[in-house]
Amino acid sequence: MNQRVSLIAANWKMHKTIAEAVSFADSLQRDVAKLADREVLIAPPYTALAAVRNAVWRTDFKLAAQNCHEEDKGAFTGEISASMLRDIGCDYVILGHSERRHVFGETDEVIGKKVAAVLRTGMLPVLCVGELLEARESGATFDVVGNQLDRSLKGLPAAQARQLAIAYEPVWAIGTGKTATPEQAQEVHAFIRKRCRSLWDKAVANEIRIMYGGSVKPDNVDSLMAKSDIDGMLVGGASLEVASFGRIVQYQTPGETK
Ligand code: PGA
Repeated sequence: MNQRVSLIAANWKMHKTIAEAVSFADSLQRDVAKLADREVLIAPPYTALAAVRNAVWRTDFKLAAQNCHEEDKGAFTGEISASMLRDIGCDYVILGHSERRHVFGETDEVIGKKVAAVLRTGMLPVLCVGELLEARESGATFDVVGNQLDRSLKGLPAAQARQLAIAYEPVWAIGTGKTATPEQAQEVHAFIRKRCRSLWDKAVANEIRIMYGGSVKPDNVDSLMAKSDIDGMLVGGASLEVASFGRIVQYQTPGETK
């Protein structure tokens, strides 16, 4: 029996001023009850990380950055390293988001280096994977996702791998209002867990949290979270308002044991 603590993440992307971010963190901590089976992750833009860190008082609320550079320091104008994020108080870093891959051209190889850099600091990575619409329609979903995992995670020691969170975010579902059905998501999540078994072993695969992202809303979260291999949500648009994200955090499943 697995007892994975679920991870419900707000990815604010390039939204919110410092004041808006602090006010959100404050309200959410007051509005939602603490539950032992879940953690809340807030990923503000870099500019609001320090302020949100100071505004978080609940131990079930964690702080994430949305990206980092793979090197620790050096002549990389405009970049931020994992150790700098650790220094500001981050707990997690989201890596390989589809916008990083498709708008900023990040490769699996670079993303793999970022995963290792984040783990070296003691923070935890949330590695995003997911297929484009063409891949889904041509039946290449498993090949694409399998390759993304192999290329960015191969060689990672089991002791580090067990700390990973992986977010399955079908690119065709991000910001489009088209959510994967719970069955479609579960199918890929089960595939991801199986791939983790072959990359490491069963015990590691059972510890890794696999989150779903792509048009998660208050009205679809319950059915997604009810699936056995879905251990969390990575939420973009619906995480910008306290009311909708608060409802997502308070998802309810019919008592299924994970
Ligand atoms: P969305 O974004 O919830 O707006 O679809 C999800 C994401 O990009 O992480």
